[in-house]
Amino acid sequence: MSRVLVTGGTGYIGSHTVVCLMQQGYDVTIVDNLSNSDLKVLDGISGIVGRRPDFVQADCLDGSALDAVFDSFPDICAVIHFAASKAVGESVEKPLMYYRNNIGSLLNLLESMRSHKVNRLVFSSSCTVYGQPDKAHLPVDESAPIQKALSPYGNTKQINEDIIQDTAHAAPELNAIILRYFNPIGAHQSALIGELPNGVPNNLLPFVTQTAAGLRPKLRVFGDDYNTPDGSCIRDYIYVMDLAQAHVKAVQRLEDGGREEQVEIFNLGTGRGLSVLEIVKTFMEVTGAEVPYEITGRREGDIEQVWANPEKANRVLGWKADTPVGEVLLSAWNWEKHLRNIK
Ligand code: NAD
Ligand code: UD1
Repeated sequence: MSRVLVTGGTGYIGSHTVVCLMQQGYDVTIVDNLSNSDLKVLDGISGIVGRRPDFVQADCLDGSALDAVFDSFPDICAVIHFAASKAVGESVEKPLMYYRNNIGSLLNLLESMRSHKVNRLVFSSSCTVYGQPDKAHLPVDESAPIQKALSPYGNTKQINEDIIQDTAHAAPELNAIILRYFNPIGAHQSALIGELPNGVPNNLLPFVTQTAAGLRPKLRVFGDDYNTPDGSCIRDYIYVMDLAQAHVKAVQRLEDGGREEQVEIFNLGTGRGLSVLEIVKTFMEVTGAEVPYEITGRREGDIEQVWANPEKANRVLGWKADTPVGEVLLSAWNWEKHLRNIK
């Protein structure tokens, strides 16, 4: 069986993807510097899969460390590159750190891949590249225009996509799949792995589960005066296990070789937009937990509404995100309860 190198593999989406890869029979080597994850994740993964992935603690900014990983695992056939800094607000305050980490890591990785003749790459991008699409482009498909990034984080994703396109242009043997995620939420059904937000969560779901667990007094719903049915913002929330499965499909597609373009791009979402208030209400219904909330002012930089047209991924990758949202919200709650020892 072939081996996949997963950078950022102890992180949130990476760890769920490693589980899916190993369950499909792949060997996995994780490279992570643990800047936003914990070694205990490896116990969670082996608790689910029954075997441990290989793990190398290394920084993608260290090119020789990456070279050493490819030297140690000559059977690596593909790379999934998750490793990046991802907090939008922090990127506004520390742009140089974001540009250095997110761009430097990809440059080193591509150089190591080139010198070790590894020619398959799956890259984590984001729907943030579309900004606020105009009404004619909702739901958003891959042909929607890329808009000027709203944050240094968003800009690193756009620049990374360009770097991959240019590198592939110069190297016809290199094939890449760029995956633009919408809003990943939830945790593995076992509650052995999940999202570990650093400090006060910025994203909606961890804030909801922490409020339900009593760690935060109240959820703030950022605005109910948007031009949406209930006035709160709309997003496409995708179950992290569905998202993880798409990565396995992407690796398989790169291995099979039946490709339309050298660099393929897919939107990964459910195709359904849900409002903040719908999420909060459904969460309370399915879990029975209380989430005290108040409506506050809008959050600066927020997009009013965006959701995916995932038709291309459904058709070409043979993949669909179809886990019911109630089940997904319950998985997020079970993970929070596991973390906090709540019965
Ligand atoms: P995460 O922070 O949980 O995982 C990223 C992992 O990369 C962490 O384990 C971190 O320690 C590691 N890392 C960071 N810099 C590194 C470096 N220089 N060398 C080695 N390891 C490094 O984040 P996530 O939510 O799992 O996101 C994974 C990828 O998906 C990121 O590229 C992110 O930008 C992208 N993405 C995430 C979301 C989301 O909502 N979570 C949405 C769109 C795109
Ligand atoms: C944010 C990032 C985006 C990134 C995505 C996934 C911004 C502007 N965008 O998107 O680049 O790809 O995270 O990591 O930060 N909300 C509340 N109360 C809260 C938290 C959130 O009402 O306490 C609302 C927000 O206003 C938004 C929705 O919940 O309408 C989802 O927010 P969030 O989880 O932060 O994701 P995005 O804003 O979609």
